[in-house]
Amino acid sequence: MLMKRVTVVGAGYVGLTTGAVLAYVGHRVTVVDLDQARVEGLKAGKVPFVEPYLEEIMGLSQGRLAFTFRYEEAIPEAEVVFVAVGTPPGPDGAPDLSQVRSAAQGIGQHLGSGFTVVVNKSTVPVGSGNYVEALVRRAYWEVYGEEPRSFAVASNPEFLREGQAVYDSLYPDRIVVGAEDRRALEVLRELYEPILEQSFPAPPFLPRPERMGAVPFITTDLASAELIKYGANAFLAMKISFINELAALAERVGADIREVARGIGLDSRIGPRFLQAGLGWGGSCFPKDTLALVAMGREYGVSMPLVEATREVNALQRQRVVEKLLSELKTLKGRTIALLGLAFKPHTDDLRESPALELAALLVERGAFVRAHDPVAIPRAQREVSLALEYAETPEALFRGADAVVLATDWPEYRMWPWEHLKGLLRTPLVVDARNHLDRDRLVAAGYRYLGIGVPSLGVLNKEGIPGTG
Ligand code: UDX
Repeated sequence: MLMKRVTVVGAGYVGLTTGAVLAYVGHRVTVVDLDQARVEGLKAGKVPFVEPYLEEIMGLSQGRLAFTFRYEEAIPEAEVVFVAVGTPPGPDGAPDLSQVRSAAQGIGQHLGSGFTVVVNKSTVPVGSGNYVEALVRRAYWEVYGEEPRSFAVASNPEFLREGQAVYDSLYPDRIVVGAEDRRALEVLRELYEPILEQSFPAPPFLPRPERMGAVPFITTDLASAELIKYGANAFLAMKISFINELAALAERVGADIREVARGIGLDSRIGPRFLQAGLGWGGSCFPKDTLALVAMGREYGVSMPLVEATREVNALQRQRVVEKLLSELKTLKGRTIALLGLAFKPHTDDLRESPALELAALLVERGAFVRAHDPVAIPRAQREVSLALEYAETPEALFRGADAVVLATDWPEYRMWPWEHLKGLLRTPLVVDARNHLDRDRLVAAGYRYLGIGVPSLGVLNKEGIPGTG
């Protein structure tokens, strides 16, 4: 393997994971982030968010992984520079590219004399590869008064899932690279060789999956690579919205959506994953990317009804849970709802576009008090969420005096809670399992009324058990 000098701009989920994994497989990596406090923390081995195994893989890369907040220390020597900065949604739905612009400028101003591939990993609108190239050229020109001679841009979309980011980077389904310059494709093929060939030693905490073979390397043009990212995310979001739409019908006709999803998913043309009905999708990718796709369609005069419907169904999913609570409790005014989970999915403390928070906002709007628990996201929620929420650190504090329990994030530990013992703390033993995650039979046996998504409701509430409805 040829060791490469790599720089990653942006120490977020994507940048840090990419940097740590490339260092782990043998490259020399510098991660640049303008946030000095973040850089200091990283130098001390501290990851500023919750992501399983990231600290461990960083620990195993020691010596080959450095951090800085200065471009001049990271760019001139680099053979490959990844742009992995945030592209949050702007006011019109199109991504805000200000961080990409600033990164491209920082790179252009410090570009060295050797051949450098500038790789876009941030999700940017199709056509942005060319834009980054122009920005790097202009920045270089402003400093040196001439064209940079040896650099090329490439797009290398990221498919990692938060909560499984290290695993997904070590064992990807495919690696996609788009570039017009053949040399750039070759450099990236060499860079990814240990992952493509799976020739690195698997870390003890993340063994290589059985039957894992060589990883397909897809080389294409810039625009196609950029569109692959949007296409993949929109399709996955559509799969989830599809099963959620079907779940509403399943409830009416008395079917069980979990059985339906299994029956559908075993068709190898469809596949079983991302067919889990629930509160819908959230996070930093699906909401932003579907919105950007619609905005791109608008810009080019192409309507995107499927993507728009995917978004509409997703918003409805939160509403459906409110309606379930209303049908059981009659009113939400003054009710205390115990919310299990704040993060947009388990194993992360990321709250961006979290379905749990969107549901909480709808409940608060209707006059309910929302008391929330999350195994890891409470500190972050206390800093970032302006909604008036109460936080509970223990199951007992969460359940005490609550009128209903709603599971919003499918953390495995919620299944292990002592539901039999906790029931006595509730005013009404009502559970809305908005991820179909809990052990329904166990809850019903313990005397709860159980409602899921697209599954038959079970258990009855003693009418006397619902205070304030008479
Ligand atoms: C996603 C893509 O999976 C990843 O490839 C891309 O690079 C970034 O976006 P991520 O946002 O981290 O990753 O999470 P993911 O696991 O895809 O889940 C997204 C949301 O969909 C979560 O809110 C999750 O709860 C929800 N979901 C997922 C469902 O509701 N049902 C499912 O069957 C799967």
